[in-house]
Amino acid sequence: MKITFLGHASLQIEVADKFIIVDPFISANEKAKNINIYDLKADYILLTHAHQDHILDAEVIAKNTGAIIISNFEIVTHYEKLDIDGHAMNIGGSSQFDFGKITMLNAIHSSSFPDGSYGGNPAGFVLETKEANIYIAGDTALTIDMQLIPLQTKLDLAILPIGDNFTMGIEDAVIASDFIRCNNILGYHYDTFTPIKIDHQKAINAFKNKDKELTLLQIGEALLVAIESKK
Ligand code: NI
Ligand code: MN
Repeated sequence: MKITFLGHASLQIEVADKFIIVDPFISANEKAKNINIYDLKADYILLTHAHQDHILDAEVIAKNTGAIIISNFEIVTHYEKLDIDGHAMNIGGSSQFDFGKITMLNAIHSSSFPDGSYGGNPAGFVLETKEANIYIAGDTALTIDMQLIPLQTKLDLAILPIGDNFTMGIEDAVIASDFIRCNNILGYHYDTFTPIKIDHQKAINAFKNKDKELTLLQIGEALLVAIESKK
């Protein structure tokens, strides 16, 4: 599994020869100027919630690629009205796709569209594939519900927000990594805006002190994830 950081909370995941774009907020991100959304390959677009900094480029990418939007019922309904195909899910549900299984989990946050209309409940996703199992937390607070994840899934990587202010900050993300029993963390949702600026070295050290590894990618940089060998 190859995960490319597209800035903010935007990712491209390549797995089982499929491309999954997560929460595309690229065209308005000053820091992601080197990424052209029309060049992005996508078979699916995963949207965690309806905030602008997660859905901004979803319509353009979906129309350009024919990708299917996987999200909550309200968000999928919104895009179906724009003639974009979707797969609606809700919290606690799993569904099998050609690249693997997705489970939609709760996130402690809010979810309204930029015009203020209701965007359903915010979510995170667990992806279970033959190449790796990952958790994409979405915008969320630390929540004890995260402890349920390792009862069902051995995670190889967790993608956690670390920018604070709108989501968990670094200290809570370290606790979250304990809750989900995962020592391999990719940080996201930081630095894009002034209130979520972080000290990178401090963040890396906070995880290192607990024998965990925090990866912070440059925009456009990729991380390879594999199934951890059985201990
Ligand atoms: Ni949000
Ligand atoms: Mn956000």
